[in-house]
Amino acid sequence: MLSDKIDTEVLDAAGPSLKCVSTMSVGYSNISVDECSLREIRVGHTPGVLTDATADLALALTLATCRLIPEAAAAVRSGDWKSWKPFWMCGVDVHHKRVGIVGLGRIGSAIAKRFQGFGCSIVYTGKSGPKPQEEAALGGGVTWLPLPELLSSCDIVVLVIPLTKDTHGLIAAKELSLLKDGAVLINVARGEVVVQEDLVAALKGRPTLRAGLDVTVPEPLPPSHALLSLPNCLVLPHIGSASNDCRMKMGELSIANVLCGVEGVDMPCECPESLGRGASK
Ligand code: DGY
Repeated sequence: MLSDKIDTEVLDAAGPSLKCVSTMSVGYSNISVDECSLREIRVGHTPGVLTDATADLALALTLATCRLIPEAAAAVRSGDWKSWKPFWMCGVDVHHKRVGIVGLGRIGSAIAKRFQGFGCSIVYTGKSGPKPQEEAALGGGVTWLPLPELLSSCDIVVLVIPLTKDTHGLIAAKELSLLKDGAVLINVARGEVVVQEDLVAALKGRPTLRAGLDVTVPEPLPPSHALLSLPNCLVLPHIGSASNDCRMKMGELSIANVLCGVEGVDMPCECPESLGRGASK
């Protein structure tokens, strides 16, 4: 599972008969793939089958964060709902906003497509620069921007970039300071992409900012954590891919990866940095 760290210690303990590692997740920052390759251990993951479920959740989290849905539902249960009042439980709009996608991969594109359905304009960033094919698939009108420009010009910023050495701590105090007043930061990538103490400070110092996080450091986040005391922060327990159908498909794909790894034939989805015996399909 993505919560299991597969490092040198685990690989040493597993011994030389270990042939493959298969994670039931698209992200594999929990696995030391280089170390696996050195030992001729192949690594499989589960891209593709979770794209739509994760994109759905990113939208749900954005809507919940912007329109105060958890707070409103809690008010009904607690009896705080007294009457219809013009400015009670008023959040911010999502439709027709400018949305910045940090990481226009498979899931990032699926998220962009959903926001387009809300009339939003889309910009994106990523270290590989403009992606003409992805832009065309989204019908054009989608523009690459350097990260600082994206952060300072968007109403909603969605982090959906894989966790790597380059993206660890990508969003720190300096980047957070670029966000517009009233901006909303959504993270469905990995908690480590954001410097969490800096996010706490930014949300405390600028109450108009909002954050919706499906991922944190650590996971689970202790109930006493500072993020959970902030009214402008909504935290979910890493449920991006949590639909029954999606999890079944992820399970089946990770089993297929294991079986192929053991048999020494191409895995349906071997990690790109793995031994390269089976291309990621
Ligand atoms: C993944 O597969 O990496 C996701 O984070 C799980 O929801």
